[in-house]
Amino acid sequence: MPSITGSAPGKIILCGEHAVVYGQPAIALPVNEIQVKCTIFAKPNWSPSRVNIKDQTIGLNSNLTSLRPDNPIRKTIELALSALAIDHLPACEIQIHSTIPIGGGLGSSAAVSVAVARAVSAFLGHPFENGITNDISFEIEKLHHRTPSGIDNSVITYAKPVFYISGAPIEWLDFSQPMTFLIADSGKKGSTAKAVSQVRQSWQSSTSEYESYFREIGEITLRIRNLLVDGDLPKVGILLTQNHEILKKLGVSLPVLNFLAETTLKAGAYGAKLSGGGLGGNILALVPLELADSVSVALRQAGAARIIMTRISPTQGR
Ligand code: PMV
Repeated sequence: MPSITGSAPGKIILCGEHAVVYGQPAIALPVNEIQVKCTIFAKPNWSPSRVNIKDQTIGLNSNLTSLRPDNPIRKTIELALSALAIDHLPACEIQIHSTIPIGGGLGSSAAVSVAVARAVSAFLGHPFENGITNDISFEIEKLHHRTPSGIDNSVITYAKPVFYISGAPIEWLDFSQPMTFLIADSGKKGSTAKAVSQVRQSWQSSTSEYESYFREIGEITLRIRNLLVDGDLPKVGILLTQNHEILKKLGVSLPVLNFLAETTLKAGAYGAKLSGGGLGGNILALVPLELADSVSVALRQAGAARIIMTRISPTQGR
């Protein structure tokens, strides 16, 4: 039975989250160790146009038309069909498998829409270029939280480290040294939508204070970009930790995130911060390769629910 698969990696925000929603730059990295795969099986024996969707991760097994009109998977398929000027899919089953934890700031929502858009377009014989996939995924991100910066869909679609300013052309990150990161799950689910709206409310009531935080984060991001070109990872680490301190002031950290970040610093990480929306989810630590194992052990002892190690090399940046 013919089938076709579309896939997409996870992602982690290195620096600049939240401030990026307010026009400041941010840097994000793909995380290839975690993935979404969407496979479409043609079902020529089914009644025409019957489309079934299965996503074990979220316990979904449903006809496409039974999903709510604003369901992100349904909407992704509709946007893909409309970009191809095709009005319906032939009978098929769409299976989604994800190893990206939900609510961890690791890009699961954008990765699902990218993988589904890729699979649908390939299944219909017209695989999308990345630009179209990225546009579709950005529209879907708006369903998840009203004011996405677009960084998640960009880094996930292109699977390359990005230096990102909302509304500006995407820049690929230039860096000269391989980097080793540990991503540690606090065990508490974050909600990007909640965190983004909480920051918006605080920004509305204390505008100048919050704008100065956003500017500080933007400056840190610019400095990190330059240090990455020089390969000065210890200094990058210090700035990551400073970024975390400002995220605390924005009100999106939690004691458990602070504790995990501090644990990695004590164990020799160059720097650490929460990553993504916050209020739960993951921390990110930049570590010397030779300390990756011992920092992981320290994180596990500190109660991290899951640890992902990822290495990014300069060849991925071009
Ligand atoms: O999806 P998350 O949790 O990694 O958060 C995305 C980063 C934010 O800056 C908080 C929101 C955005 O749209 O950029």
